Amino acid sequence: MIIITNPPEKFAGEAVVPGDKSITHRAAMLGAISRGTTEVNGFLDAEDTLSTIRCLQLLGVRIKVRGSNLIIDGQGMVLKQPAGTLDAGNSGTTARLLLGILAGQPFKTVITGDQSLQKRPMKRVAEPLRLMGAAIDGKNGGERLPLTVTGGSIQAIEYNSPRASAQVKSAVLLGGLFADGITTVKEPYLSRNHTELMLEMFGASIESQGSTVTLRGRPELRGGKVLVPGDISAAAFIMVAAAIIPDAEVLLINVGVNPTRSGIIEVLQNMGACLELQNRRYWGREPVADIMIKGGSPLKGISLGGDIIPRLIDEIPVIAVAAAAADGKTVIRDAAELRVKESDRITELSGQLVKMGVDITETKDGMIIEGGKGLRGAEVSSCGDHRIAMALAVAGLVAEGETAVHDAEAINISFPGFMAALRSLILK
Ligand code: S3P
Repeated sequence: MIIITNPPEKFAGEAVVPGDKSITHRAAMLGAISRGTTEVNGFLDAEDTLSTIRCLQLLGVRIKVRGSNLIIDGQGMVLKQPAGTLDAGNSGTTARLLLGILAGQPFKTVITGDQSLQKRPMKRVAEPLRLMGAAIDGKNGGERLPLTVTGGSIQAIEYNSPRASAQVKSAVLLGGLFADGITTVKEPYLSRNHTELMLEMFGASIESQGSTVTLRGRPELRGGKVLVPGDISAAAFIMVAAAIIPDAEVLLINVGVNPTRSGIIEVLQNMGACLELQNRRYWGREPVADIMIKGGSPLKGISLGGDIIPRLIDEIPVIAVAAAAADGKTVIRDAAELRVKESDRITELSGQLVKMGVDITETKDGMIIEGGKGLRGAEVSSCGDHRIAMALAVAGLVAEGETAVHDAEAINISFPGFMAALRSLILK
């Protein structure tokens, strides 16, 4: 699939972004291991979350899709041994979080993923789960998918995670549900905390202090209703588009603005964008707002690093596009994790933006962008990465001439309605 974008004459109106990916994965998994029915309103219906749903179905969980709701028939903590291999597709969250649940299951499971996921590091979750007592084996000493997990007798641990990763934290916490006693995870900076918020909502005894979280094992999890806010990581593409298109005026409705995810808002405001949160409220324990963005304010470059990085890690590709359209230098550091995402986002994104005339240099742990030099339309590629595809399509909205993004079907991983959302704002 090829996406073509051109600078629009107008970019205005209201848009609703799809349900949050991280929250949808967690609602499906926690619903599966709880007692009773869980109804997930506004779940993300995209390839990554469907991977989670299919894996859970293979583990014996009855899950139905009713319109924009998922209805999950909770099985309690013990699932069924699957007849075949679980396939996490392209989804790191599916693989890593499920490993935590599988560590607690009294049977053997094999889990794999697509070509990209088979290259991504799994040691970061396999290691703590082995310390908890799970047997996890695979190629290269069990560092990559496919992995065979034999779970069952799990012990609580105190885990000092070397990286701020919500997937690692969540895998250890999910494993800790099956252990007697208290599991503790400490991370260098606080990563997204959706697992903690949802576990509490499902009845677990869990406490967070700074970047340390403690969970009491063997809770009675009870299913319930989960309202999924719009995904700020999907909204980010439209936010940046509106910020860099002159005269744009866009209202994004019902976006999740959990502070562990909302670094993009601070960054755009600090770059000089006109962006305002309206109608702030809570959906369950998750903060939600409508976001108004107006284009036309001149943007300036920014320096990013340290504890904000985990709060905007998935937004860096589109932040790089905002930086290209801004005046002055943007420096992004402490973001080496980008190299082990769905693609090496530092190398691949830099390579594609260079084709559009952007002055971008990759560094070991980030990139340096000399903005304000103008973008030109080009033939570019998603490199098989959904967020690169959408970032390039946004770049095409301010580039001179036409931009063609090849291999754009990758967007179906997280935002199948992306082009429809853009078109609805362009046609207004
Ligand atoms: C996610 C955590 C982040 C993020 C990913 C989703 C999650 O990954 O990049 O897209 O849902 O927990 P890390 O935990 O590897 O930082």
